[in-house]
Amino acid sequence: MLTKREPLIIANWKMNVLPNEAVSLVLEICKQVSEQAKIIVAPPFTHLSLLGSLNNDNIFLGAQDCHEKDFGAFTSEISCPMLKDLGVKYIILGHSEKRLSNPLENNRITNKIKSVLQAGLKAVYCCGEPLDIRESGKHLEFIKIQLQNDLPTNSFPNIENLIIAYEPIWAIGTGKTALNDQILETHEYIYDWLSDNYGKKLADTIPILYGGSVNSNNAAQIAHIPNVNGALVGGASLNPLEFANILNSFYLVN
Ligand code: 13P
Repeated sequence: MLTKREPLIIANWKMNVLPNEAVSLVLEICKQVSEQAKIIVAPPFTHLSLLGSLNNDNIFLGAQDCHEKDFGAFTSEISCPMLKDLGVKYIILGHSEKRLSNPLENNRITNKIKSVLQAGLKAVYCCGEPLDIRESGKHLEFIKIQLQNDLPTNSFPNIENLIIAYEPIWAIGTGKTALNDQILETHEYIYDWLSDNYGKKLADTIPILYGGSVNSNNAAQIAHIPNVNGALVGGASLNPLEFANILNSFYLVN
């Protein structure tokens, strides 16, 4: 298991915040966090350039998706080289909101991860079960199928740049955080799957983040779960004080 080290806390702003609000939101977060905190923000694509121009050493840019090809006739799409050129370091892939809005998305995730890793960027791969699967007790089987489909062994360069985010769909935007035991069990399962399929040495280095209604009230408790290496935060990352408190809670534990 990856031992506790610098936590990764990623703000997924989804389709929120106007470009001219983005800078003040990020600078406000900076004011409230300890100096060593790494602030990773995945804003809408339209805000990346502006946030990059801040040249702030504490702020790291993330993107919420990318296309699997580098260039070509793919209207409306954005590729890894374009994001890298803007200073993006992390790219979220396989988010359930993308998977649900287009079922074909599931078939593209492996190639997207490949493209991100090939570019030398960090791929933040999301997996997680819907409510009916959780209630049927088949959540681990569901996660196993996602991992098998999306992370086939021997397909990735720079696999050490993979980050996994466990985001149970029923906990996203619902205010219903997964219980500590549920997080512990699923993270352990993901770790074991990685260890069986990629080897223990690699599994020991891959951070596993939790996402789903993380806020300043539950962050400390989640940060204490031994196999949680950070968080992917949606709604609470839009409030600077909330997000700063989440960051501070994780840094206190690590
Ligand atoms: P919330 O924190 O709003 O539940 O969203 C989680 C998420 O989807 C992060 O990617």
